[in-house]
Amino acid sequence: MAVIIFCGMNSCKKPGLKEREDIILENILTRTSVRSYTDQRVDEGKIEYLLKAAMAAPTAVNSQPWSFVVITEKDLLKTLADSLPYAKMTSGAPLAIVACGVMDKTLKGGGKDYWVQDVSASVENILLAAHGMGLGAVWTGLYPIMERVHTVQNILHIPSDVIPLALIPIGYPDGETKPKNKWNIENVHHNRW
Ligand SMILES: Cc1cc2nc3c(=O)[nH]c(=O)nc-3n(C[C@H](O)[C@H](O)[C@H](O)COP(=O)(O)O)c2cc1C
Repeated sequence: MAVIIFCGMNSCKKPGLKEREDIILENILTRTSVRSYTDQRVDEGKIEYLLKAAMAAPTAVNSQPWSFVVITEKDLLKTLADSLPYAKMTSGAPLAIVACGVMDKTLKGGGKDYWVQDVSASVENILLAAHGMGLGAVWTGLYPIMERVHTVQNILHIPSDVIPLALIPIGYPDGETKPKNKWNIENVHHNRW
């Protein structure tokens, strides 16, 4: 998977260990939210890699309690944008993926809410894979804001026991977006608080 992403970055030779480490860390450190996209569509192969990246995420007890809705229809992208106050950029995107938690696949008992972390991990994988493939994306939050959850369930005909957690508009970035530097040593504690 990683090697194929590197191929997408204009080099199809297999990178050495150090080169691979640099590319992966650089991809993580330079990812940033992209909210403006060109009209270029995202081809099916790239969409499949985004979904493979999503489903490569870790999940509690490997439960994989997720489902993904891939949206490429212009009118649906616009309806979502018009209905979600903080996801207006969706109307300008050629693609969006809605990452959902599937309630009948969650753990039983006290671990049930791990689904939120599981699906969140898949969202981050999509963002990183998108960035690695020269795409831009942004996490727009749905769950736990139930009004947004119900809005998206209605528009996309998602059943009530499948909960949309995030809507991710994706496309080729229109212009430059500078990553934020969030490094803060004060957030780090060694051994004890
Ligand atoms: C749970 C969550 C919800 C978010 N919701 C929105 C949103 O509704 N609209 C939006 O434009 N960005 C949203 N974002 C993106 C954040 O604004 C963005 O990640 C943050 O400002 C840091 O910037 P960066 O992604 O460029 O590092 C969300 C991010 C997370 C993790």
